[in-house]
Amino acid sequence: MLILGIETSCDETGVALYDSDHGLLSHALFSQVEMHADYGGVVPELASRDHVRKLLPLCDQVLAEAGRTRADIDGIAYTAGPGLVGALMVGGSVAHALGFALGIPVLGVHHMEGHLLAPMLEENPPAFPFVALLVSGGHTQLVMVSGIGEYQLLGESVDDAAGEAFDKTAKMLGLDYPGGPRVSALAQAGRPGTYRFPRPMTDRPGLDFSFSGLKTYTLNTVTDAEERGALDEQVRADIALAFETAVVDTLVIKCRRALEQTGCKRLVVAGGVSANRSLRQALEAMAVKLRGGVFYARPEFCTDNGAMIAYAGCQRLLAGQRDGDRIVAVPRWPM
Ligand code: KG4
Ligand code: ZN
Repeated sequence: MLILGIETSCDETGVALYDSDHGLLSHALFSQVEMHADYGGVVPELASRDHVRKLLPLCDQVLAEAGRTRADIDGIAYTAGPGLVGALMVGGSVAHALGFALGIPVLGVHHMEGHLLAPMLEENPPAFPFVALLVSGGHTQLVMVSGIGEYQLLGESVDDAAGEAFDKTAKMLGLDYPGGPRVSALAQAGRPGTYRFPRPMTDRPGLDFSFSGLKTYTLNTVTDAEERGALDEQVRADIALAFETAVVDTLVIKCRRALEQTGCKRLVVAGGVSANRSLRQALEAMAVKLRGGVFYARPEFCTDNGAMIAYAGCQRLLAGQRDGDRIVAVPRWPM
């Protein structure tokens, strides 16, 4: 079964072709990051318009790269939510129009399920069951995954997502959007131990997270340094490192707890923040101690992409799931 995957939930237009027998054939991504950078964040209307411009050319590009034509496609999967409703509608409209014209099934996929299954595209995919840490700009969740569609929420953020905290910290430190990779790069020059930031909710049982207090702590630290006239490049790097270390430690503590509670040995880490190198190293060290394994997607498939949607959609289309003739666009949608 040859599946065209379409991702347009936010500011990346992602398209891919996944074959159930031969794996990922081709993928393409157009990032709108430069366009939104002038505004310090994603402007929904501009995002939708850019998806309209880029989506069909990218579909043709992945077909050409795989040496296929539209007539070869057996099904189409698109991100149905959560995300920006206008942006989602673009992907859903194109998917349904193409599906109708070609007479093939179409299915809306949950964006976070896409992230969750992205490590399945790698050479050494995890076997079920596994614990998944989903860390993106909108979500921080721990999920017990027993199979495709068999997800049990173990814990989640009660306020901000980890990626959101990275993006806001970036703003406080005068860094451009998207902030996560930039905070992480600045942290490289930080001096360990100069500041110690709190590890929220780690001193009590449970698997929930909270990053809003850490954000306020960061803001107070930045403001204090500014008022003392001390906020130079070195101090900004020190703050970036203290923030990143606190987030990484917090995530590692909760992942270890989730593995111990479930007795599961395999941990999948997915979503934009899973591209963070310090987080990967710390989780690997933790997993070694527990004699377990950590699985992630390659960095380009940690952030939004079409390949994860093509893969997740393929599994569900193979199981016989279909949309019907209505476009599905759900801005807020628990997995
Ligand atoms: O999964 P994603 O591309 O989009 C959402 O579904 O939200 O995640 C984007 C988030 C942003 O908050 C971004 O700052 C963060 O992932 N991010 C990172 C890194 N790369 C992306 N955060 C920390 N370190 C990184 N290397
Ligand atoms: Zn995402």
